[in-house]
Amino acid sequence: MSTILRLQDVYKAFGGNHVLTGLNFNVRQGEIVGLLGPNGCGKSTVLNVITGYCSIDRGAVEVRGERVSGLAAHQIAAKSVRRTFQLPSMPGRMTVEEVVMAASTRSHGLFSTLWRSAKVRRLEQETRERARQLLEELLLTKVAHLPAASISGGQKKLLGIACAMMEQPLLLLLDEPMAGVHPNLRAELVTTLKRINSQGITLVIIEHDMHFISETCSRCIVLDKGRTVADCLPSELETHESVVEAYLGKKPGRQYQVAGAVA
Ligand SMILES: Nc1ncnc2c1ncn2[C@@H]1O[C@H](COP(=O)(O)OP(=O)(O)OP(=O)(O)O)[C@@H](O)[C@H]1O
Ligand SMILES: [Mg+2]
Repeated sequence: MSTILRLQDVYKAFGGNHVLTGLNFNVRQGEIVGLLGPNGCGKSTVLNVITGYCSIDRGAVEVRGERVSGLAAHQIAAKSVRRTFQLPSMPGRMTVEEVVMAASTRSHGLFSTLWRSAKVRRLEQETRERARQLLEELLLTKVAHLPAASISGGQKKLLGIACAMMEQPLLLLLDEPMAGVHPNLRAELVTTLKRINSQGITLVIIEHDMHFISETCSRCIVLDKGRTVADCLPSELETHESVVEAYLGKKPGRQYQVAGAVA
């Protein structure tokens, strides 16, 4: 399997706050990788530096062997990279369906024109069908016509995934997709993400929910103090010395279990 994402010796500080301090990890094409670590260790910052929402001070980020650090967010998105946000915010006046349709770059500017050629109408119809299909997969059909800003936090998370999937990216980065989503929907979300992965989409998932991680991911990367402290199987997390130390600040022993600390 070829490497789709590589972070090499990445440093990022916000003033005196040194968040990423020589971060290295690789993701291979086709994997579902969990990105874990205690609150504030820099997980969302990692997604921000990969997607160009935030610059890096040193090091390199590569997507499919090409350096992307230094490029603008829209240039990185054009390399078939999509992401969701930990705290998604939605436009006040657009419906859920319109928000998903607007996530398609094919539609930009076209649907608002007064005069529509047959080609534009066909494109609009195809875009609407794709949006409806994704809304169904993400259990949002019932709220498709509501203002996007009015739906619940958990539904906004699912809507973020629908938007990110609109153009079938090669690399999809999800920031805590389960947070705020009802636990009863966990199994469906796991199935949906696996189906997305089976379409050839590589996934990197930030998540604190250990059950979700073990059901979904094939590998886990754990960050602490701005670096990778573990690169292991989900089943190895509970007993991995550096992981236990990262979460609890203790040497591992029988009485310390990561799952209990972060579930
Ligand atoms: N734009 C920013 N400006 C200043 N500081 C920032 C910025 N973004 C992140 N930070 C700081 O970087 C550190 C890491 O934040 P980050 O959001 O990446 O953590 P996280 O691992 O995603 O945490 P959580 O699990 O709580 O979501 C925090 O100390 C945060 O305050
Ligand atoms: Mg975060």
